Amino acid sequence: MHLINLFCLYASGFASVQALSGPISSSDGSIVRRQSSGDPYKIYTIDQPIDHFPDSPRYEPHTKATFKQRYIFDKTYYKPGGPVYLYIGGEVNLESRLENLESGIIKILMQATDGLGIILENRYYGESYPFDTSTTDQLAYLTTEQTIADNAYFAQHVTLPGVEGNLSAPGTPWILYGGSLAGAQTAFSVKTYGGSGTGLLWGGIAASGVIHSQHAYPEWYYNPIQKFAAGDFSISINAIIDKMDYLVAQKNTKAIQELKEIFGLGALKDIRDFAMTIAFPLGGPMNYPTSTWQELNWSPLYGSDDFWDFSNNVTQLNPPANNTAVDHQLAKYTHGEPWLNLGNYAAYVKRVLLPLCPSGDYNDVTCFGTQNQTFYAEVANGGSRSYLYTTCTEMGVYQVAQPSGPSLISRVLQVDYTQQWCDWAFPPGKYNSIPKNGPNVTWYNHYGDFNFKADRLAFIDGEQDVWRDICYHSRAAPNPRYSSVDGLHPEHLIAGAGHHWDSYGINNISAEPQFIRNAHLWEIRVVDRFLEMWSK
Ligand SMILES: *[C@@H]1O[C@H](CO)[C@@H](O)[C@H](O)[C@H]1NC(C)=O
Ligand SMILES: *[C@@H]1O[C@H](CO)[C@@H](O)[C@H](O)[C@H]1NC(C)=O
Ligand SMILES: *[C@@H]1O[C@H](CO)[C@@H](O)[C@H](O)[C@H]1NC(C)=O
Ligand SMILES: *[C@@H]1O[C@H](CO)[C@@H](O)[C@H](O)[C@H]1NC(C)=O
Ligand SMILES: *[C@@H]1O[C@H](CO)[C@@H](O)[C@H](O)[C@H]1NC(C)=O
Ligand SMILES: *[C@@H]1O[C@H](CO)[C@@H](O)[C@H](O)[C@H]1NC(C)=O
Repeated sequence: MHLINLFCLYASGFASVQALSGPISSSDGSIVRRQSSGDPYKIYTIDQPIDHFPDSPRYEPHTKATFKQRYIFDKTYYKPGGPVYLYIGGEVNLESRLENLESGIIKILMQATDGLGIILENRYYGESYPFDTSTTDQLAYLTTEQTIADNAYFAQHVTLPGVEGNLSAPGTPWILYGGSLAGAQTAFSVKTYGGSGTGLLWGGIAASGVIHSQHAYPEWYYNPIQKFAAGDFSISINAIIDKMDYLVAQKNTKAIQELKEIFGLGALKDIRDFAMTIAFPLGGPMNYPTSTWQELNWSPLYGSDDFWDFSNNVTQLNPPANNTAVDHQLAKYTHGEPWLNLGNYAAYVKRVLLPLCPSGDYNDVTCFGTQNQTFYAEVANGGSRSYLYTTCTEMGVYQVAQPSGPSLISRVLQVDYTQQWCDWAFPPGKYNSIPKNGPNVTWYNHYGDFNFKADRLAFIDGEQDVWRDICYHSRAAPNPRYSSVDGLHPEHLIAGAGHHWDSYGINNISAEPQFIRNAHLWEIRVVDRFLEMWSK
């Protein structure tokens, strides 16, 4: 769910603050190149109402303005009578979703069913901003209900230049697909505007759809790593974290400073910033600059092996003598017990993470420090700011250490750490303010939570996904997860898979690893059944 290669939340793409506000002008006419051969995709925009709920007190004082929402489409496989696949962009820009049309799941489904594929960029992401800046008041329209209303409006009012006939909903079967946050938005859209709701959208597939909101998320984010990474790796980190937290509990500032310096991070003032920085190879909270467990993938085209490199570095046998020496350096603070593999851990952080801060000013917000209110309060538009807003208001799942048992991250990482960014970033506006002590989970959970059900809505999740416990196949879900025999409520948990791994493809289903291949064959069957129901 979280953006990767985002360094310290706002650091990338942080433009200077613009004084103007009001709808942004059109970007019609630009193109994005295909990775495969063929004509580039042309980017279109639709005039989307900023406020779909003129009667709701939530959006007072209301606006009648529209904004330019970007989309692209691919009609390569389309034949008259075929369905429309609407890929929901989620929390990244449209350009970074192209793969879905060229080799991924939308291509697979288009090819199998003579369909047309569209990628729609979410409001407040990419270049689909309603306003020139993102003040707390301007962000008032960044809600789940407005976002999914965009999808319904789009399906009714889309224009597809060069395509014959009228493909608008509900005259054509529209099938939504989204992964992660967009997976949840797909589920919410189908529930609200599908056969169980207004009947406008025909169906959808929610991949790793994070349909459940809660304030803190200690359950599973680090658990797949604890459970499925090599055991010598997990226990090494667990023991180092236990010792670190012991020093914190002892308030042994001298020893803690020595620990920070071992990692080259003596400059980091806030212990939580230090705890987050050394946790970066594992991910979160909220952001991380290198790839983690979440970025492992079944195909080397899309994945990264950073996590395995990290784990093999930490556990290497016969490390250089200077690494081993470090394991003993802090033993004097822990009753003579050495810190096994601390030197390896520190050497990895020094080699891989520290160079990401070329200034060497590690405590600065552009590097590993986060304690700068002014920086977070900057109102320039940006995907990380929008995502943080949704986190603070509706979605939650602040990544924190587990309350008991072994931990891969320090227990100093608790909800207050994420909440301070919320409070700094979104001071109360004239009309809108964020909830004080964490998100209002009702906005999200009222769609169905773990009892989610909507006709022609499929749920597909990954067994080892770090976000699994807020998905349909959460280990906390009360009911057994069964598909219904009528084909209306299909579900599939892919063995061994990570975060929406089914969305990736390599242009040859037969050549995919077995569980992914069969997930794709299942998705084709699911959609075929939806389309059979349409013909009836
Ligand atoms: C296209 O179809 C939709 C319903 O499917 C209908 O509401 C709309 O009026 C049609 N548009 C045109 C231009 O025929
Ligand atoms: C350590 O990590 C690097 C990549 O950062 C990798 O090239 C190297 O093979 C790893 N070392 C071990 C012992 O696995
Ligand atoms: C040990 O020395 C190597 C080579 O100079 C260096 O890269 C590494 O960071 C050192 N280890 C520690 C724990 O500082
Ligand atoms: C805090 O961030 C602001 C805005 O990015 C920057 O101008 C300022 O120098 C930072 N302050 C400190 C103490 O780093
Ligand atoms: C949370 O939102 C719901 C509406 O979704 C509202 O009824 C409730 O009062 C809100 N709770 C708080 C504490 O604001
Ligand atoms: C697809 O993969 C299968 C299995 O590896 C292989 O036999 C087949 O030749 C491939 N097809 C194409 C078109 O590359």
